[in-house]
Amino acid sequence: MSGTKREIILGVGGGIAAYKSCDLLRRLQDLNFSITVVPTPSSLNFVGTATWEALSGKSVNTQVWEEVEKVNHVSLADSAEAIIIAPTTADLLARLVQGRADDLLTNVVSATSKPKFLVPAMHPQMWLNPTTQANVEILKSRGFAVMQPATGRLTGNDSGVGRFPETSEIIAAFLDHIGSTQDLLGKKILISAGGTREPIDPVRYIGNRSSGKQGEALAIEARNRGAEVTLVLANSNIPDIAGIHTVRVESAEQMQIALQANIHDCDVLIMSAAVSDARPTTVAKEKIKKNDLQKIELVSNLDILKKLSEDAKDSQVIVGFAAETSNLEEMGRAKLQAKKLDLIYVNDVSHGAVFASDESAGYLMSAEGESIYIEQTSKAKVARYILDKVVSRLGYANG
Ligand code: CTP
Repeated sequence: MSGTKREIILGVGGGIAAYKSCDLLRRLQDLNFSITVVPTPSSLNFVGTATWEALSGKSVNTQVWEEVEKVNHVSLADSAEAIIIAPTTADLLARLVQGRADDLLTNVVSATSKPKFLVPAMHPQMWLNPTTQANVEILKSRGFAVMQPATGRLTGNDSGVGRFPETSEIIAAFLDHIGSTQDLLGKKILISAGGTREPIDPVRYIGNRSSGKQGEALAIEARNRGAEVTLVLANSNIPDIAGIHTVRVESAEQMQIALQANIHDCDVLIMSAAVSDARPTTVAKEKIKKNDLQKIELVSNLDILKKLSEDAKDSQVIVGFAAETSNLEEMGRAKLQAKKLDLIYVNDVSHGAVFASDESAGYLMSAEGESIYIEQTSKAKVARYILDKVVSRLGYANG
């Protein structure tokens, strides 16, 4: 099993709202994020290192001079998919505008091109100060997302704009910024990908050119939306993906065993693998000499998707794939019905193979008769369309 969580950095500036970030950290952990906290040195006056280390379960540094061998500012910038800084003080806004790198947090921000989300919190006069407002505008123009502070009671007797927003509002805005709705949170999704290989002898096999890229895109998108993902991957050189449980297989039979072992508690099965329809009747123990290789006798493989779909519970959503060169909708509809699927994505291969490409086009069809043509686009986008439909179907199944 590869890593299981998505990495993000929680920067903490030196404002009293630092204590509220402890709850923010907890709620982000509930969403399956693994968090490294990088406080500014002055913020430790409000919440100390021990608290952040205990809550995050990771060592906490404020300067580049600690754990120097890890080159933390670069390794953190590389490993995290986004940075959220909450609270961001007026001083921190100014330092970010200047590109200062005088503590670990500002070094990490300088060293990353990942999404940066700021949650300013300060006294109203400081927030409304033209210098602060100008700094906010500059940071926005450079691609930082800056949340509007809430209005209400502040430290002491003051009230006004500058309050740290509610944790739930921060999380909603942050997830929106990093392009991550959590509409699959708590759902288990089983995805097959790649192409199976059916051995002929110790060196030869019957295979296909599926790269596994569409399944990979589906797995990443599902993980990003909060799902617990198991990816059964056949003969693909895609490396293990953080937060996704990957099971590697070769033949159709191995794929069937891996899927059957994981299907029971799944909410969704997405069968994007290209499964060989047949395998050699016998597998030769020794390499077959070329003179004996005129004919290979084949026996049909089980249609794994059909079998799993027949055995599925009503609440499980089953998605199949097909690849067609003509009569796409007609063929898609026939497969959808024959295999009792909820959804099918019919790859349009009329203009050439989609294998190994980063893009695809095709029909996304549902059991209710809906059929949408997805114009040539990235496999990541196709994954998004498919999972949007899966989410609505989970809604029906649960309702
Ligand atoms: N599938 C399967 N087990 C097989 C063959 C296919 O589970 N032995 C699944 C694939 O993962 C895919 C769908 O069934 O989700 C594809 O159906 P299929 O009828 O094989 O369609 P095509 O791949 O388009 O091939 P053909 O038209 O040649 O039948």
